[in-house]
Amino acid sequence: MELKNDLILRAARGEAIERYPVWLMRQAGRILPEYRAVRAKLSGFKELVETPEFACEVTIQPVDLLGVDAAIIFSDILVVPEAMGLEYQMLEQKGPWFEKTIRSEEGLKYAETNFDIEDRLGYVLDAIRMTSKELDGRVPLIGFAGAPWTIFCYMVEGKGSKTFSESRKLLYTNPTLAHELLNRITDVTIQYLKAQVKAGAHMLQVFDSWAGILGTEQYAEFGLKYLDKIANALNEVPLTIFSKGAITSIPAVAKLNCNTVGLDWNMDPVKTREIIGESRTIQGNLDPCALYASHKEVENLTRNMLDSFTSKRHIVNLGHGVYPDIDPEKVKTFIKTVKDYELRY
Ligand code: CP3
Repeated sequence: MELKNDLILRAARGEAIERYPVWLMRQAGRILPEYRAVRAKLSGFKELVETPEFACEVTIQPVDLLGVDAAIIFSDILVVPEAMGLEYQMLEQKGPWFEKTIRSEEGLKYAETNFDIEDRLGYVLDAIRMTSKELDGRVPLIGFAGAPWTIFCYMVEGKGSKTFSESRKLLYTNPTLAHELLNRITDVTIQYLKAQVKAGAHMLQVFDSWAGILGTEQYAEFGLKYLDKIANALNEVPLTIFSKGAITSIPAVAKLNCNTVGLDWNMDPVKTREIIGESRTIQGNLDPCALYASHKEVENLTRNMLDSFTSKRHIVNLGHGVYPDIDPEKVKTFIKTVKDYELRY
C-alpha cells in the first residue's frame, strides 16, 4: 500500500524531508479521553491489548486527534515474556506483576523459545494487519518490542522496580544463566519483530527502558551484545534503538546496525550529533514534563530544541513516554510547533 505521508521513513533513512516528522512515545493511551472511553468498556488493559479491533481503534486515535506523523501499534513489551511462559497481570495504579519469576536454571522452563509466534502472539499481528488496512496509508505504522535487557529485568524481578536489584544480582551470581535467558529473549524478539514487519509494520522501535541502570561495561555485555544481534537480523524496515539513560553508551548504540538512535531528555542532541556524525538519525527528546508548561512556553521550548538541530536527520519526539495527566491540547501545541517549523537543512 502506498503511503501518503512517509516523512518519518525518509527521516530515518537520512533522505530529503520537507519538515521534521513528529510522534510521541505512549501517544496511544491515557492522555486521550477517547482512549479512556474505550478502556472503560473493557475488563482491563489486557483485554484491550488482546482484542485486535480495540487495539486498532486506539492506535489510530492519535493520528486522527493529534495529527502525528506515525502510529505505534497499541500493545505492550510484556506480551513477549508472556508468550515465553510467564503470564503477567497489569494491576491498576501499580503496573505489571508476574506470579512466577526466573532466578535459577529451573526457572528456564518459563522461557520457551520453540513456539510459533502466530500461535501465541497472533493477536498483536492481527492488530497490525487490521490497523495497517484501516490507516490506508495515511501514516506509517511502527511495530515494537522491548530490548532483551529490559525484558530480562521483568522476567527476573517479576514487577517494576527502581533498582531491579534482583535482575542485576543475577549478572554477578550467575552470568551463565543471565546470558542463556538473554539469548532466548533475543531469539524470540527477532522472530516477533520479523512477524510484525510481515503483518504490515513500516518501521520498528526497540525500547531498552532500563539500559541506564547498568554501568557502561555491563551494558556492553548484557545489553548491547543482544541489541547487536537484533539489529543485524532485521534489515527489512528502518529500526530505532532507544536505550534510555545509557548516556555513556550512546556512541556504541550509534554503531549498531540501526537507522535511528532514541535520546532521552538528559541527553544533548547537539553533543550527540558531534559524537555520532551524520550516519544516524536522532529521535527525541523534549522533557516530557515540558508539556506541563504554558502553551507559549511549550512553543518556545520546542522551538529552542529545533533551533539546536544541525541536521535533517531528526525525528521529533519526547525524551520518554508522554505522562498520563498531560493536557492533549499541550501535545497539540508541541506538534503544531514542529509542523510549522521551517527546515534549515
Ligand atoms: O507508545 C504507545 O502509544 C504504544 C503503546 C505502549 C504501551 N506500552 C501501552 C501501555 C508501548 C510502546 C509500551 C511500552 C512499554 N511497556 C515499555 C517501554 C517504554 C517505556 O515506557 O519505557 C515498558 C517499560 C512497558 C511496561 C509497562 N506497561 C509498565 C511499566 C506499565 C505500567 C506503568 C504505566 O506506564 O502505566 C505498563 C502499562 C501500559 N502500557 C499502559 C499503556 C497505555 C497503561 C495501562 C492502562 O491503560 O492503564
